[in-house]
Amino acid sequence: MIDGKKVLFSGMQATGNLTLGNYLGALKNWVELSDEYMCFYCVVDEHSITVRQDPATLRKRARALYTLYVAAGLNPEKNCIYYQSHVSGHAELAWILNCFTYMGEMNRMTQFKDKSAKHADNINVGLFAYPVLMAADILLYQTDVVPVGVDQKQHLEITRDIAERFNNIYGDVFTIPDAYYGQVGAKIMSLQDPLHKMSKSDENPNASIYLTDSPDDVMRKCKKAVTDSLGQIAYSEDQPGVRNLLDIYSACTGKTPQEAVKEFDGQGYGQLKMAVGEAVNAVLLPLQSEMARLTKEKDYIDQMIKENAEKATYYSLKTLRKVQHKIGFPDRIR
Ligand code: TRP
Repeated sequence: MIDGKKVLFSGMQATGNLTLGNYLGALKNWVELSDEYMCFYCVVDEHSITVRQDPATLRKRARALYTLYVAAGLNPEKNCIYYQSHVSGHAELAWILNCFTYMGEMNRMTQFKDKSAKHADNINVGLFAYPVLMAADILLYQTDVVPVGVDQKQHLEITRDIAERFNNIYGDVFTIPDAYYGQVGAKIMSLQDPLHKMSKSDENPNASIYLTDSPDDVMRKCKKAVTDSLGQIAYSEDQPGVRNLLDIYSACTGKTPQEAVKEFDGQGYGQLKMAVGEAVNAVLLPLQSEMARLTKEKDYIDQMIKENAEKATYYSLKTLRKVQHKIGFPDRIR
């Protein structure tokens, strides 16, 4: 608890171009939670270097992601929005937690298996230890809830296991965090292969709508979206393409998929696709113009980066000092 509010932590990597899926599935929900909780929203640049990065690009993308958080409506004067690398406690706690994590349990992490297959030329220890750094992110702030996608479920479970193990030895040091999966239908699938999640690293340029796409790009991609030959607009498992379009439409307009189905009653896929494109543009255009405005507000963003790093450091140290003391590191002389 901070100031009577439960603590929420989440983070995103500044790699690749963010997609509509990242926005509708994560960021937009974060904004909705930002009044109710004391929120820490982190640009997890330390996670990014588990894969080789070009320094200038990483720095630029980290700044763009920070700006996007603010443009999307997260308030850096109320929430704590910061870069992971600006708060040294993340790496320090991760080291300690490494010593409370078993090789056996880490060997079960499916994302490591996927990622090491993708980056076979650079299977580094950091990539393997990635979930422990994520555990440190979360536990450092005594987090109560973590909004994550299903792909991060296993990482949250190991976080809870590590925290419980630590607490069993040293007493109640860490709050045990719960996952927050958000509302149904927020999982946006690829436009070209609706059985897979929309991804920022998809090689097919028509598969993902990027947050930087122009209105024409959006329309074109929606028109090319894969559907089926049934020719009916229904919200059903048997029609994953149509269902995904209805999900996107619902997430952009705030209507339920059932309301959307009624609205398109008797219409063809062409009309549905047009409507989806328009709904997406109605969300993206204001976001893009706010991004453009904030990108020019350099001093303000700099100030927020500085203040929020200080704020995060303050809270992180409360946990870190306690942990260091519990495990027997000599106390600092004041
Ligand atoms: N691993 C997460 C992802 O790729 C990002 C992340 C890092 C995160 N630390 C976190 C998410 C802590 C939630 C909580 O999506």
